[in-house]
Amino acid sequence: MDYRSVISENIAKLTEIPVEQVNKLIEIPPQKDLGDFAFPCFILAKSMHKAPALISSELAGDESLKANGMFNVKNAGPYLNFYIDRSAYASDIISRINKAGDGFGSSEQGKGQNVIVEFSSPNIAKPFHVGHAFTTILGNSLARIYDRLGYNVIRMNHLGDYGTQFGKLITAYRLWGDEKALDEDPINELLRIYVKFHQEAKEDPSLEDSARENFRKLEEGCPEEKALWQKFRDMSLVVFRKLYDRMGISFDNYNGESFYSDRIPAVVDMLNEKGLLEESEGAQVVKLDEYDLPPCIILKSDGTTIYASRDIASILYRKETYDFDKNIYVVGIPQALHFKQVFSVLKKAGYDCADNCVHVGFGLVKFKNMAFSTRDGNIVLLEDLLNAAVEKTREVIVENNNLRGQDMTEEQIDEIAEKVGIGSVIYTYVKSGREKDIVFSWEDMLNFNGNSAPYLMYTYARIRSIIRKASESGIASSSDPSVLGSLTSDDEYEVVSALAAFEDSVKRAASTYEPFVVSRVLFETASAFNSFYNNCRILGDDIDRKDSEARLALCEAVSNVLKAGLYLLGIETVERM
Ligand code: ARG
Repeated sequence: MDYRSVISENIAKLTEIPVEQVNKLIEIPPQKDLGDFAFPCFILAKSMHKAPALISSELAGDESLKANGMFNVKNAGPYLNFYIDRSAYASDIISRINKAGDGFGSSEQGKGQNVIVEFSSPNIAKPFHVGHAFTTILGNSLARIYDRLGYNVIRMNHLGDYGTQFGKLITAYRLWGDEKALDEDPINELLRIYVKFHQEAKEDPSLEDSARENFRKLEEGCPEEKALWQKFRDMSLVVFRKLYDRMGISFDNYNGESFYSDRIPAVVDMLNEKGLLEESEGAQVVKLDEYDLPPCIILKSDGTTIYASRDIASILYRKETYDFDKNIYVVGIPQALHFKQVFSVLKKAGYDCADNCVHVGFGLVKFKNMAFSTRDGNIVLLEDLLNAAVEKTREVIVENNNLRGQDMTEEQIDEIAEKVGIGSVIYTYVKSGREKDIVFSWEDMLNFNGNSAPYLMYTYARIRSIIRKASESGIASSSDPSVLGSLTSDDEYEVVSALAAFEDSVKRAASTYEPFVVSRVLFETASAFNSFYNNCRILGDDIDRKDSEARLALCEAVSNVLKAGLYLLGIETVERM
């Protein structure tokens, strides 16, 4: 249950203002003594022919607004202030969370609806860099969030596995390819010969002709060219999959650009039948003046297909195959125009599914005081970033382990460092609004007291250790509503309010395509929990058993929400740290 909606519905019933409008008008008062929610009555003055202050004093007496004791309602000037009954609040939220466990936040909102999330989509035979990690991590999180909300999610990886560059690679491989190097480090070897191709082609233009010829053969399905292309593709996928596995990411399919190439003639026919194709400087284009966009090229002047035409074909395929209700593209902001053009071509051709296609863009990746060995135009490889993060995390964990006199084995330390290190990288991508550029710095990533994965993961592990300790002394968390109702102190109330924001944050993260709405609630929850933990005792001889049980339930709820939320961001928790 969402408190704001309960209030809005009840006010709407009494006043004839639409629920959505009431919902928007509800404010969170700046001070707690003015209530947890407030409704300004100005808007009612006209229709009710009364002063706002008079209206609020009349409404404050209406029983229905109390929602069976959930709220106390008081008027203050033109405002109607709602005070949550802390006891009922704590008991309701904590029991619901602990009943749901780490699956908390799930809903049936998306039942029966198909959502495609296309993400990652790297180019084969190219290094997987930190920019690709942005779409990979953001997309994985959005897929998990939609899944949690009950949507049927299809995860697609639209690999860049087609185009004239493969003709170049085939030519280059035949001239300078080193089979052994290819087996050992395929991406680097492919990159090496690709770079060499461009150097050599400056001197020897016939190389370009050979590349074009090889690509033509590939398009025609000639076995030798196709086999080489397949080999490059398979080898690249092995490398990409290793990264995906390491981050716990999977896809339902890897239908890359090549998959759509033989569907393009049908697209061309369709556009022709509808009279939308026009010739422009030898190329076939669809004009998009009415959308204020430049024309979209469908076929190049030499008759070959292009990136945009493959995307158009892929949308038609996706509609046919998955009958999507939403088709989400997690791709960098620089491709915004491309997607506008692609969606508009389909719209112009009368496909309403174009309205359900969404481009979810994101910013750039930057580094502060971090040195990496970079290749080819300052590219930082994701693998290098992950390895460095894990290594640094390991140092901190070893230090903490020694400080606290813990006795973790090397194996345990390795496992924890791997999860926390990767978590720290993932979290950096999802802790701010996606359109902002992100800046990596070890200080922020590995700050065990700040807005970082280690902080959230440590809070989780700490709670798990409290629960283990309690259980050793035979104390378990309570699920009795009247016991939970005792969690009403300011410290406890802050934790409960933070927890209460979680469910709604999952829904808002989905509707705005912003996982950071969830990460923010996790950080607020962990911060509230840590103040509570500093100020209140949970276990001990001097504390009443019922209080221990209630507070343990609060701890458990926090651990459930942290685990549920971190999972939605793509981060795995550890039981000790
Ligand atoms: N492979 C492209 C790149 O690395 C991204 C593909 C985006 N997806 C799409 N359907 N066009 O830039």
